[in-house]
Amino acid sequence: MKVVITGGTGMLGRRLALRILAKPELFGPDGRPAAVDKLVLFDAFDPVEPPPDDPRVEVVTGDICDPATVDALIDGATASVFHFAAVVSGGAEADFDLGYAVNLDGGRNVLEASRHTGRCPKIVFTSSLAVYGGERSVDDSTALTPQTSYGTQKAIGELLVNDYTRKGFVDGRTLRLPTIVVRPGKPNAAASGFASSIIREPLQGDTVGNPVTPETRMLILSPPRAVQAFIDIHNADGAALGPNRAVMMNGLSPTIAEMLDALRAIGGDAVADRVRVAPDALVQSIVDAWAWFADGERARALGMEPDASVSEIIENFIAGELGGKFAG
Ligand SMILES: NC(=O)c1ccc[n+]([C@@H]2O[C@H](COP(=O)([O-])OP(=O)(O)OC[C@H]3O[C@@H](n4cnc5c(N)ncnc54)[C@H](O)[C@@H]3O)[C@@H](O)[C@H]2O)c1
Repeated sequence: MKVVITGGTGMLGRRLALRILAKPELFGPDGRPAAVDKLVLFDAFDPVEPPPDDPRVEVVTGDICDPATVDALIDGATASVFHFAAVVSGGAEADFDLGYAVNLDGGRNVLEASRHTGRCPKIVFTSSLAVYGGERSVDDSTALTPQTSYGTQKAIGELLVNDYTRKGFVDGRTLRLPTIVVRPGKPNAAASGFASSIIREPLQGDTVGNPVTPETRMLILSPPRAVQAFIDIHNADGAALGPNRAVMMNGLSPTIAEMLDALRAIGGDAVADRVRVAPDALVQSIVDAWAWFADGERARALGMEPDASVSEIIENFIAGELGGKFAG
C-alpha cells in the first residue's frame, strides 16, 4: 500500500512517518489492515531533520501549488494521502497570496489529483481550531466563523473534503487540531509558536519572551497524541463519520501560568526563570480569537484522547525529543 504525506518532512509529517514505519499497517481502501510498503514524503524544502532511513521511504521535493507535480505524486497506486503541507497561521496572515496559494489551491490540487486516480483514495486533511471565531468553548456543532486568513483557508478545505467525499472522488477525513505543544526544533511562523517556545527554550538553556498574559488559555495537544489521532481518523469507518468528515480533536486547556508552573515543578527555578515577560499585542489578539475549551464527542467516540496533563506533555518532550536531559 502506497501512502503519501504532503509536508512530509515537516514537524508532524516526519513524526507520523516514523510512527507508520514502526507499525506499518493502516486500514486500506477496503477497510482491512494492509501493509505500508511505500511511504512518500513530499515537501517543498530539503528536510530540516534527516528523513527516516528506510527502504520504504521516498523523499520527493516539489511545490504543492503546482497541479502537474501533485498529479505525478498522487498516482493510481496511492491508497492514502495525509495532507499536511501548509503555510502556518502567522505566515498566512503575513503573506495573503502565499497563504491562499498553498493552503487553499494546494489542498485543491491534492483533491483533484486524488480524483484523477479514479480510485477514491483516503485523504486525511489537517485543519485547525483557527476555523472558529472567538468562542471560548467549542463543540462539534460550533459554526465555523474564522477570523484569520489561515482559519478561512482551513475551513474552506474542510468543506472541499466533504464535497469531494460526497461525490465519491475521495474518502476524506479532516482532523481539526488544537495547538501542538511542545513543538520540537526551531520556532516557526505560527502565531501559537510561543506556547512551545516557553517550554522548549528554557529546557535547552535559552531565555525566551512570553508574549501573552498569564491568564491566557491555550488549547493544546502533544505531537505523539496528534500522530495517534491521525492514525485513528485514517482508520475510522468513513460511513460512520457521516457527511461531515471533520472531527474536532480535544486537548488540554491550561493557562500560561499553569504551563509555567508545570515547567517550574519539573525543571526547577533556573529553568522557569528563563521565561521573561514580553507582551506582543498582535500575538495576544490572534490567540484571544482561539477557543479555550473543546468538547468533541465525535473524537471521544473514536477513542481519540488528549494528553493526561501538562506535566505529562513536558516529561514526554524531555524523554522523547531531548534524550532525557535538559539544561537545569
Ligand atoms: N503544529 C500545530 O500547532 C498545528 C495546529 C493545527 C493544525 N496544524 C496543521 O498541521 C499540518 C502540519 O503542521 P506542522 O506543525 O507539521 O507544520 P510544519 O510547518 O512543520 O510542516 C508543514 C510542511 O509543509 C511544507 N510546505 C509548505 N509550503 C509548501 C509547498 N508550497 N509545497 C510543499 N510543501 C510545502 C513545509 O516545508 C513544511 O515542511 C499543517 O497543515 C498545519 O496547518 C498544525
